[in-house]
This record gives sequence, structure tokens and C-alpha cells, in this order.
Amino acid sequence: MIFYFSGVGNSYYVARCLAEELHENLYFIPKEITGSMSYKIKKGERLGFVFPCYGWGVPTFVEHFISKLNIEGQIDYLYFVTTCGDDTGMTSEIFCKDVERKGWECKAGWAVIMPESYVCLPGFDVDNNDKESDKLIAARDRINKIIDDILDQRNVFDTIPGPFKWIKSNIVRPFFNKYLINPRHFKTNKSCIGCGKCVNACPYSNISLDNDSLPKWGDNCVQCLRCYHICPQKAIEWGVFTAKKGQYTKMIVKDLLSQHLS
Ligand SMILES: Cc1cc2nc3c(=O)[nH]c(=O)nc-3n(C[C@H](O)[C@H](O)[C@H](O)COP(=O)(O)O)c2cc1C
Ligand code: SF4
Ligand code: SF4
Repeated sequence: MIFYFSGVGNSYYVARCLAEELHENLYFIPKEITGSMSYKIKKGERLGFVFPCYGWGVPTFVEHFISKLNIEGQIDYLYFVTTCGDDTGMTSEIFCKDVERKGWECKAGWAVIMPESYVCLPGFDVDNNDKESDKLIAARDRINKIIDDILDQRNVFDTIPGPFKWIKSNIVRPFFNKYLINPRHFKTNKSCIGCGKCVNACPYSNISLDNDSLPKWGDNCVQCLRCYHICPQKAIEWGVFTAKKGQYTKMIVKDLLSQHLS
């Protein structure tokens, strides 16, 4: 079984490749968190987690999900795959500790570099077309290697920590989680046509249209930026730095958009 989250489709792509090749069932975390969160694992079955790296760590809502998860049966092989735009800092150490608190042992973890989805701060933008294509081609080879490793149940940690990993994950990450995961900075510009696509796309049903057909953001936001990237009018802004930033839409596939809660 594979539990996954994906904002703009990269991690969903990885999770789907794994599920197809390994014949695993996929479980979408925002949907599962509304249920009992109890699962029976069969003898020899693998337990996988696939998620994007946020702020050089495991997204806090994924950590919350893991803390509530109940698995009946013996877990023989537990692994994770995180997708990132550049590097993952100490995501591997953070994930291993998260599962250790449950009494489980993480046996393997990989990072896959995919097109960038973070645009909210200066210096961060989507990749240009060439870089995006290069990343997606390289990702396919890397996913094949990960599938081979999982089939052989190898104990491998290959997670692209990058430079300054301790500072990024221990100093920047807490600041990022506290101040930059914040729906209050979302707003629409005058291009909004009230189509409601952002409302339907949000995996946490956090957006509604007001009486003037303008989107309103609630407090249940994980900063996945799916609403920002999906908007056909480029009408969504977060803070003051996104007006001239790009959108990444290649991986936002139809079945991903139907994975919201309502
Ligand atoms: C809130 C947020 C934080 C991010 N933090 C990082 C990061 O620390 N390191 C990195 O390389 N990429 C970072 N990214 C980029 C994503 O990890 C990357 O584009 C990922 O593949 C997106 O996966 P998804 O399409 O499944 O949402 C971040 C993206 C978002 C939206
Ligand atoms: S998707 Fe864009 S245009 Fe449509 S309602 Fe949302 S912000 Fe407005
Ligand atoms: S409001 Fe936007 S950024 Fe927040 S969870 Fe929903 S789609 Fe993601």
C-alpha cells in the first residue's frame, strides 16, 4: 500500500508509476485522514509514502497523518519517496524519526527531482521549458531505479540532501512552517472570471466562492499551490512576489483534480 500527497501532480506521477509496477493500492492522504485511518497489512506487503518535500522537510500534514495512522500486522519493508525541485535537506532524517515514533523502522528512502512548484518568495519560480523537460526525462529513469530497489527490498537512502542541510531543515524549516504556510496571503487579481476551478481543485476543500463569485480561502490550507497553478486566468496571487511568476500545469491531470474532499 502507498499513501501519498501531491499538490501539482509530481508526487502523484511518481506514486502512480510505483503503484502500477509494484501492483500496490494508492491512498490519497487528504481523503484518508477523514476516515478511520486503520489498515491491515498483509504478510510481505510493503508500506510506502510518497509526498513532495516542503521547506526541506516532510510536510507537517503528512507528519500529522503518520502520527494518526494505525497499521495492523507486521511491516516488513517501509519506504518513502519525496519529490523536490532542487534538494531535500534532512527530509530523510525527519521522516525516519516520524515513523520511529510509531515503533516502525524506515528501510529506504529516495528523492526525485521534478519541476519546481514553489513560487511564493523572491528567487523561486517555475522552471523554464528546457529545464522542466530535462527534469521529467531524468525522473523517469530515476523512478525505474527506485522500483528495482523496492522490488529487491534494498536498504538504500538516496535523498539529495543538498548543501547546508542542517541549517535548511532545522533553522529555515520551522520559520517556513510558521510564517509561510499561510492562506491569508492568497488573493485574486482582476483577471478572475469566477469559474470555480480553484474551488474544485483544492485537495482540502479550502476555497469557496463568495456572493460576487470571488474565491475566498479558509484556514485549512497546506500551501500546495494547486489553486495558484491551476487557475486558467493566472488570477491567484500569494503575497506580493507572485504577480510575475509562472505556472506549472504539465502534471495537473484530470484524475488528480477530482481528488478533493467534497
Ligand atoms: C510549500 C512548498 C515548499 C517547497 N519546498 C521545497 C524544498 O524545500 N526543496 C525543494 O527542492 N523543493 C521544494 N518545493 C518544490 C516541490 O517539492 C516540488 O516541486 C514537488 O515535486 C512538488 O510536488 P507535487 O507536484 O506532488 O506537489 C516546495 C514546493 C512547495 C509548494
Ligand atoms: S480558477 Fe482563477 S479565474 Fe477561476 S475562480 Fe479561481 S481564481 Fe478565479
Ligand atoms: S487553498 Fe490552494 S494552496 Fe491551500 S490547500 Fe487548497 S489548493 Fe492547496
